[in-house]
Amino acid sequence: MKRIKNLSVAAALAIGASAFAQTPIDVDASKSIAEIQPTMYGIFFEDINFAADGGLYAELIKNRSFEFESPKMGWKEPNSNRHSLNKNSGIAKIINYTDNTGNKNYARFEINDASGYEIINEGFRGMGVKADENYRISVMTGKVNGISAIKFELLDENEDVFGEASIAPKGNNWTTSEVTITPSKTVEKATLRITFSGKGSIDMDMISMFPEETWKGRKNGLRKDLVQLLADIQPGFLRFPGGCIVEGRTLEKRYQWKKTVGAIEDREMLVNRWNTEFSNKLTPDYYQSFGLGFFEYFQLSEDLEAEPLPILSCGIACQYNTGELAPMDGLDPYVQDALDLIEFANGDTSSKWGKVRANMGHPEPFNLKFIGVGNEQWGQEYIERYEVFAKAIKEKYPEIIIVSGSGPSPDGEYFDYGWEQLKKLDAQLVDEHYYKSPEWFKANADRYDDYDRNGPKVFAGEYAAHPKAEDGPKENNLEAAVAEAAFMTGLERNADVVHLTSYAPLMAHKDAWQWAPDLIWFDNLSSHGTVNYYVQKLFANNKGTNVLKVRSNGDKIIGHEDIYATAAIDADKKEIILKLVNTSAENKEVILNISGSTFKKKADWICLSGDNIKAYNSFEEPNTIVPVEKEVKIKNNNTIELAPNSVNIIKLKKS
Ligand code: AHR
Repeated sequence: MKRIKNLSVAAALAIGASAFAQTPIDVDASKSIAEIQPTMYGIFFEDINFAADGGLYAELIKNRSFEFESPKMGWKEPNSNRHSLNKNSGIAKIINYTDNTGNKNYARFEINDASGYEIINEGFRGMGVKADENYRISVMTGKVNGISAIKFELLDENEDVFGEASIAPKGNNWTTSEVTITPSKTVEKATLRITFSGKGSIDMDMISMFPEETWKGRKNGLRKDLVQLLADIQPGFLRFPGGCIVEGRTLEKRYQWKKTVGAIEDREMLVNRWNTEFSNKLTPDYYQSFGLGFFEYFQLSEDLEAEPLPILSCGIACQYNTGELAPMDGLDPYVQDALDLIEFANGDTSSKWGKVRANMGHPEPFNLKFIGVGNEQWGQEYIERYEVFAKAIKEKYPEIIIVSGSGPSPDGEYFDYGWEQLKKLDAQLVDEHYYKSPEWFKANADRYDDYDRNGPKVFAGEYAAHPKAEDGPKENNLEAAVAEAAFMTGLERNADVVHLTSYAPLMAHKDAWQWAPDLIWFDNLSSHGTVNYYVQKLFANNKGTNVLKVRSNGDKIIGHEDIYATAAIDADKKEIILKLVNTSAENKEVILNISGSTFKKKADWICLSGDNIKAYNSFEEPNTIVPVEKEVKIKNNNTIELAPNSVNIIKLKKS
């Protein structure tokens, strides 16, 4: 965030009479009208757009274990398309393990002429590596016959070598060897070449390369820059692993958390449901290695001090795809997965799943409080399955809060039916999704004003304004972000009903995305927050603990003169926090009138604004629209000018 120190009052505020309409903002700071949950602003993570493999999970080798449906996808050998090399020099044969674990295949390299054989991994749209940083290569080797060394070379776009390292394979039993490779230059789309010394054969599996520098320095961990962006939001919760990915196109291809924990090499690879979902965005090489699995999600939640919020399959495959149903009398394994997950997160280390967690290095419980049953399901088939889950979970774990779903749309037949039934079933938290135009977001800033105060609470679990813009990063423009902010004032004003909220999707790789807009864009080397990201961050960083009553001439401020407002108090920091959004293309004047509390003159004012509503943050110019913080002096009845298309956070210190 840019910070302007001691900006003069005259420059920051227009004080006194004005020719323009002035909107009074009357805040009653004497009493809280609702508590704001610590979970109010969170994040939604789904492995879409290469968010996990190729993104947050810092592995640089694609298909490291030869487990894709086409087991050599991502690798190229002389006999694929490098014609200059001798086709008979060698070959990688894919062999199946005979034991029954998640790790199905390995490669047997048969080398006739080592000088003519190479195999190259292309990475996730290349590999981003930085000059002079260390990268850890590891490889499992099994039976070795006549091969004395394995050489790894980093190649740039011209196939020139700019880093190399070698490993001498050990023995004949599967063992993991490691070596460090240090690139001499920074390359965004490098590849890794493997060659051999000797003649004979060698079995290899789990060929892996990670930066040594990861989030918290964890070995083979997460990409530091991306987690930092998440941490900067200070999210109240982390929802994972999606999204539709939870459901799968078929039940067989649903997300099964048990297959994502334990030894990395045994986690069974699964095709990513987003691989061919959109015909204009085909990514057939999109798989889930589950290196980022449920243990890592819990650990990440802990790192972020965010409540973990796992969502599980409820026995219905994606209803946009097959809609396959687990029969009602066949639901047990699904329900058991939910119960076992709670044990995995919270159970004693002597319990079956608590022990698995402890063996992975976390004997302390993860303190799971929420669990989601189904993602975007609808209809009677959902309600009857939800009921079975809710009964079983509540019987064993009455303290766990269950998240239920209201389908893919914020209104309509499915939505109404879902809500009606869930109310009857005393559901606790209902997930709502809306991907709509900026106009919809502004027009719906009062959406929750009339919600039943005695019914289930709301989890606004997936939302984003979709403006009319060229697809990709340009969809994350100022127009959308300001509309979301306007809407979010309504979420916060209704914090007694709305307990959790999250923008979706979270991340997108610039060369491998399926869905836009997204909160964060990244490539192999860099990442940046969108304008929408900064809106989320502003609201989450300045949440407050209690909502205050805000009126203008006795009315709620929802689009009057294109202004939207909410106010909160932070009881711990002793601050009054105003959030004022101006969705118009003009300056707007407001008159602040705070009653019920005195406050110091010196205030902090953070403003996100721009003249061009189509402006967005790009890879070339990631700071086009970012919040600017200034110190101002404010007194009661001051007139304040809100910039065009602006989101303003004004923090007053109570005196
Ligand atoms: O956020 C992208 C997708 O939108 C989610 O996977 C799904 O829940 C919704 O349809």
